[in-house]
Amino acid sequence: MYDRLVANGRDHDVVLFGATGFTGALAAQYMKLHAPDRLRWAIAGRNAEKLAALAERLEIDVPMLRADVEDAASMRALAEASRVLVSTVGPYTRYGEPAVEACALAGTDYLDLAGEPEFVDLMYIRHHERAIQSGARLVHCCGFDSVPHDLGAQFTVEQLPENVPLRVQGFVRARLSISGGTLHSAIGAFSRLRQSAAASAARRRLRPHLGARRVRGHVGGPHHEPELGWVVPLPTIDPQVVLRSAAALPRYGPDFSYAHYLVTGSLPAAGAVLGATLGAVALAQLPPTRRMLLARIAPGEGPSVERRRESRFEVRFLGEGGGSRVVTQVSGGDPGYEETAKIICEAAMCLSEDRGLPSLAGQLTPAVAMGAALRDRLQAAGIPFRVLSR
Ligand SMILES: NC(=O)c1ccc[n+]([C@@H]2O[C@H](COP(=O)([O-])OP(=O)(O)OC[C@H]3O[C@@H](n4cnc5c(N)ncnc54)[C@H](OP(=O)(O)O)[C@@H]3O)[C@@H](O)[C@H]2O)c1
Repeated sequence: MYDRLVANGRDHDVVLFGATGFTGALAAQYMKLHAPDRLRWAIAGRNAEKLAALAERLEIDVPMLRADVEDAASMRALAEASRVLVSTVGPYTRYGEPAVEACALAGTDYLDLAGEPEFVDLMYIRHHERAIQSGARLVHCCGFDSVPHDLGAQFTVEQLPENVPLRVQGFVRARLSISGGTLHSAIGAFSRLRQSAAASAARRRLRPHLGARRVRGHVGGPHHEPELGWVVPLPTIDPQVVLRSAAALPRYGPDFSYAHYLVTGSLPAAGAVLGATLGAVALAQLPPTRRMLLARIAPGEGPSVERRRESRFEVRFLGEGGGSRVVTQVSGGDPGYEETAKIICEAAMCLSEDRGLPSLAGQLTPAVAMGAALRDRLQAAGIPFRVLSR
């Protein structure tokens, strides 16, 4: 439907914007090891010296582009030089919009690691229609938030009968340490719950009607699951992304519901998780206590190689419908950074290289934009999607 010939005339296939940051540097390392020789990739950032130091440290010889989110002309030039722009410049609520806007205007495909619902909702409100006109695919949440959940739920749905009501539950088990960028993004989001609710309500007013189909989030309480132990509801952006995919794709059936939980194992651990989360939300409300939380890790810092080596994740899905029941699982190593860098780079190469993707534009979820093509890439890259039982 969309003519990608304009974008095909660009200087670079994939550009990593924010490559000097903690996650951006891991993405550059991944591209060095896994990008095919024919792929023309580049790194971009606001600081030329930091870009040069990164290239020297990683021993990569790729073009370096200077762009600052506060300089609109530099953002326009960056978007117009790229076929796929990957932005790891966060917190996105603070820094993210100029890259989305420039890509939506230039017809450039865009990927990010946003986990901030307010940002994603505002980008839908402000740039979705423009991106449809230009042919740009705007795909947020292309890291651990929310690809294993989104593609895992889609994989689960594909194991169940068609055209019947389906119920899917996701159970996340993760061991990880976080970076300064993630801490600052999360605390920023906790401090803006009112604005986030307003953006969500404004988006709901714009969203297309589903006709006779129903797509519902289900928020259960903490409870004990056989085989998994205690679980608590996990109201991250992930269930929102799963439900958006369900709304866009008829394969999820006439009546789809999804619930998303964190596996804590024991009841005391469930209490500790709930207490720590409520405590962080409370401390994020006032500037002095917020500063105290933010001082724990500076932007640019993140977990050591050893910590990342010890980290891993597993998402178990239980799907039911039409008389069938299936248990599936997606798993991998360090979710926060190693696997996130892998996922966003594979997504960038998927948009840039893979034929036969849906001919769509505007704000799209990973499952809608790439679906099985990205899943195949992740399987090959060591993130398995498996059926455990039927
Ligand atoms: N979805 C997920 O699962 C997931 C996983 C990991 C991270 N994340 C998110 O990814 C984002 C990045 O995290 P991180 O730990 O990598 O952060 P980080 O290390 O602080 O990196 C931030 C990057 O943004 C750049 N930047 C800041 N201001 C800029 C400006 N005005 N113009 C251009 N670039 C600018 C920084 O450049 P300088 O180097 O010049 O300062 C740096 O390259 C965060 O929002 C985090 O929450 C999400």
